[in-house]
Amino acid sequence: MNIRFGADYYPEHWDEKRLETDAKLMHDMGIDVVRMAEFSWSKLEPEKGIFQFDWLDNAINTLAKYNIRVVLGTPSAAPPAWIIEEIPDLLPLDSQGRVRGFGGRHHNCQSNIAYKEHIKRLVSKMAHHYKDNPNVIGWQIDNELGNSHNDLCHCKSCREHFQKWLQYKYKTIEQLNKEWGTNFWSQTYDKFEQIPTPMITPTSHNPSLLLDWKRFHSDLIVEFQQFQIDILREICPHQFITHNLMGFFNLIDYFDLADNLDFVSHDQYPMGFYDDPQPIKEPSALAADLDLMRSLKNQTFWIMEQQAGPSGWEILGRTPKPGQLALWAAQSIAHGADTVVFFRWRTCAYGTEEYWHGILPHSGIPGRRYYELQKFIQEIVPHMENFKNSLPESEVAILYSYEQSWAFEIQPHHPELNYINQIRKYYKGLYNQNIPVDFISGNNNFEKYKLVIAPLQFLVSDKLVESLTEYVEQGGILVLTMRSGVKEMNNQCHIEADLPGKLTGLVGATITDYDCLRDHDMGIRYKDTDYRCEKWCDILKPEKAESISKYTEDFYAGQPAITVNKSGKGLVYYIGTEPEQKLIDDFLADIVNESGIERIYDTPAEVEFVRRRTKDADYIFALNHTGKTQIINCKDNWKSIINNEKLEPYGYALFMAER
Ligand code: GAL
Ligand code: ZN
Repeated sequence: MNIRFGADYYPEHWDEKRLETDAKLMHDMGIDVVRMAEFSWSKLEPEKGIFQFDWLDNAINTLAKYNIRVVLGTPSAAPPAWIIEEIPDLLPLDSQGRVRGFGGRHHNCQSNIAYKEHIKRLVSKMAHHYKDNPNVIGWQIDNELGNSHNDLCHCKSCREHFQKWLQYKYKTIEQLNKEWGTNFWSQTYDKFEQIPTPMITPTSHNPSLLLDWKRFHSDLIVEFQQFQIDILREICPHQFITHNLMGFFNLIDYFDLADNLDFVSHDQYPMGFYDDPQPIKEPSALAADLDLMRSLKNQTFWIMEQQAGPSGWEILGRTPKPGQLALWAAQSIAHGADTVVFFRWRTCAYGTEEYWHGILPHSGIPGRRYYELQKFIQEIVPHMENFKNSLPESEVAILYSYEQSWAFEIQPHHPELNYINQIRKYYKGLYNQNIPVDFISGNNNFEKYKLVIAPLQFLVSDKLVESLTEYVEQGGILVLTMRSGVKEMNNQCHIEADLPGKLTGLVGATITDYDCLRDHDMGIRYKDTDYRCEKWCDILKPEKAESISKYTEDFYAGQPAITVNKSGKGLVYYIGTEPEQKLIDDFLADIVNESGIERIYDTPAEVEFVRRRTKDADYIFALNHTGKTQIINCKDNWKSIINNEKLEPYGYALFMAER
């Protein structure tokens, strides 16, 4: 059975009499799956050991009559009041020592052992109850793990877990003292029990402690998920297990989190969240989120929550324009989603999310959003089987590392320097040229890519140097950028050589000086054109490398800003600054032209082109993210499948090209 479109459904928020109407409306719209129960602990187990599954059974049975299958969430993101009463220290403690109270969700410390017993009881019970139900096809663990846990948790249990984690990693306290450099400011520890979590202090914490804390925290959440995976795998091995991730959210190393899932799911909210300064994410940033999700397991994925209407809690965003909801769903599919579940079915009348609009409005009467999505589903479903499981086949990869992002959060250098934003800028340089991109972790093989872009390789391990060297030796093109080779993995500065440290052999140049551009930007010339760059300037001294760009201002005017080095059969570029977007675009365009990397579509335009590549054909999506009609010129071998060369405002088209 093919599962293509779904809705996040909360039957417990409505009168039971409504069920049948909902199921029928869903069916008529083309929905074949719902996700339910991920926040309904108090409804499933109103008192300890007293289970109440009849409401859920009833919903599952009614939906089944309309051929709608079910994914069940394990409700561990919302422990009910009676659990908090039983284990008050489950409430998490923030870094300022304040308890985060009951009344929202995610009010749970992730290391609490007593809580795990509660989870085990409910999840096992649910698993036994639904393991043979043919209408329950899979499970989602918890909900958006790590969401709301940013500054948490510093309770006694978490502190002890952190200390154990450190003991396992360093074996002896002497080793930890050495790796953290605790000699500084008399921070030497006599025993692991003395080590704090990074709670508020009069000044900043030790950067090595902070990096280990972030690693620990990520591991803790991965383990929290694994605990539930183990229960489900044992009891219901035939149902799939997934989790809903959040794009570039970086509290958890998503490569690790994805590892033991059958597939990744992602929550895509193009209008962002109500408190985002920028109300709509740039289309390239949305594309990057989706590409990261696909790349985690190098496999197609689900969207478990796709925006279905205007969103907001206390403050609202704009209403999606006609066509835009379908366009965003098409974008998700284009980047590798084989199933799209909309959040949520019907706008809730109560609770925190009263204004987070679903497909249906509060009244439950189908309106514009329902009919637009119905039309979209009906036009695209017949074609989805043709490209199911297919990937874009990228020639370019961006190295994305959670550890680098954490290290820059700890020491951003420049107040606005942000690792993820720089990743997005380089991504955009490729996106603007319609070039498919994969994200890879340091553990992937690089060989299959013509070009690997590795921005901000701040922490460098010997293993990374080895894989990059091998890649370049065999003909790969590598782009490295500023602040690379600065640190050892323990977050201490590299002292064996001048920067870029262990990468100097690859770069073929050293950095003789650098300048953090606090209050101004800087001129940079590349191929006779003047551009601006910002935040940071590495001043390079080429040894073997050749300079291909120079700064134009200040005492280092005329000195190299970008270099290229021939190494083995390959090339290594080093960009010593954060260039403006136009320079990134032009620079990458030159590399793309010189190395023969294929663009899906040649003319840069305001239309995004994405492909799904099967053995026999490319399925090419053209996505118009603008409010204007756009005319494109198909390549000769493109056959239109949905719509054509005239793209309506916020419209899309699908083409097929035989291979
Ligand atoms: C997601 C979450 C959903 C819902 C939605 C709208 O982050 O998974 O449960 O809260 O946002 O706020
Ligand atoms: Zn805790």
